[in-house]
Amino acid sequence: MYYNWKETTNTEELKIVCNLIKNGEIVIFPTETVYGIGANAFDKKAVGKIFMAKGRPSDNPLIVHIADKRMIAEIAKEITEVEQKLIDHFMPGPFTLILKKTDKIPNIVSAGLETVAIRMPDNVIARGIITFSGVPIAAPSANISGKPSGTNLNDIRKELEGKVSAVVDGGETEIGLESTVVKVIDEVPCILRPGKVTLEEIKKVIGQADFGNGIFTPVDEDEEIETPGVKHKHYAPNVAAKLIYSENEDDLLFEINQEIKACRGDVVVLGFDEHKEKIVVAEHRFINLGSKHNLEEIAKNIFSALRKSDELGGKLILIEGVKKEGLGVAIMNRLLRSCSYNYVEL
Ligand code: TXA
Ligand code: MG
Repeated sequence: MYYNWKETTNTEELKIVCNLIKNGEIVIFPTETVYGIGANAFDKKAVGKIFMAKGRPSDNPLIVHIADKRMIAEIAKEITEVEQKLIDHFMPGPFTLILKKTDKIPNIVSAGLETVAIRMPDNVIARGIITFSGVPIAAPSANISGKPSGTNLNDIRKELEGKVSAVVDGGETEIGLESTVVKVIDEVPCILRPGKVTLEEIKKVIGQADFGNGIFTPVDEDEEIETPGVKHKHYAPNVAAKLIYSENEDDLLFEINQEIKACRGDVVVLGFDEHKEKIVVAEHRFINLGSKHNLEEIAKNIFSALRKSDELGGKLILIEGVKKEGLGVAIMNRLLRSCSYNYVEL
């Protein structure tokens, strides 16, 4: 069933959706980052349906979403001072914290790990669904495993229609990139997946913070990693993609135009608004990511742009990169993964 809550949430429909969750069904719902496919986190069978619908590898754990910080005590234990500070500061918001799990969280949710990822979304619809379902909701991003995360229902319905019991439309998601995933290791917050909450912001609160492995480079099979998510192929279009970045605009545009020539124009370009007249490609093959000065806008657009580029097809997808700074870290992390680290910096 499709529910349109773009303008207002309908309480009758909210009851229906929450009953589905209580009865072990799975539901697509919006958060401020990306859409999720949710199930009762305490219900193994229901969570299993999420893995089926996404074709998700069983070694990749899910985030458990809460609507109230009091819900944490039921799912996580032995919270340290640093962890508590992070909870106080960044929840609700685009922030996920890995904590030691209680026995109430089934192994399927944590993929057999001793830990559980917890997030409190800052989105009225998500919070309403969690509150009225009365249980924490396990939810990965709404997309087939390996594809870009879903940020609007047009994209999501094409991929997942018929695989879930209900779809709640809250319009385009506000942020467009998934949450920052953090684990505290030896009292230092470690960013396992960058997002809207940046390293600098965490440092301001805790004093120190680091990036984990695999943010800008691929991880080897035998490398020790804290999050299974970085091992898996992600955000990948079907066509080969190449990411290009330079601080020198002339060099950058020259390189892009050379690549276009080499492919006789059979490319798709994901580029910035300021460059659309300077990149020599058919108009419908230029996908505008927004202004190069507006990282928020770019973050919001990249997943949808990657999907669109896939539909257009061609020999190559060329993507303009940004500086790996602030929100640019999360943007570049997603773009690097989408092009399988096929990256040149000039
Ligand atoms: O913004 C978001 O985080 C969205 C919305 C729906 O909340 N959710 C999302 O979930 O992106 P998903 O499943 O697509 O990504 C969760 C990431 C994965 O990389 C997973 O490996 C990691 O979090 N993760 C989950 N539980 C973990 C754990 N216990 N230890 C380490 N990493 C974990
Ligand atoms: Mg995902």
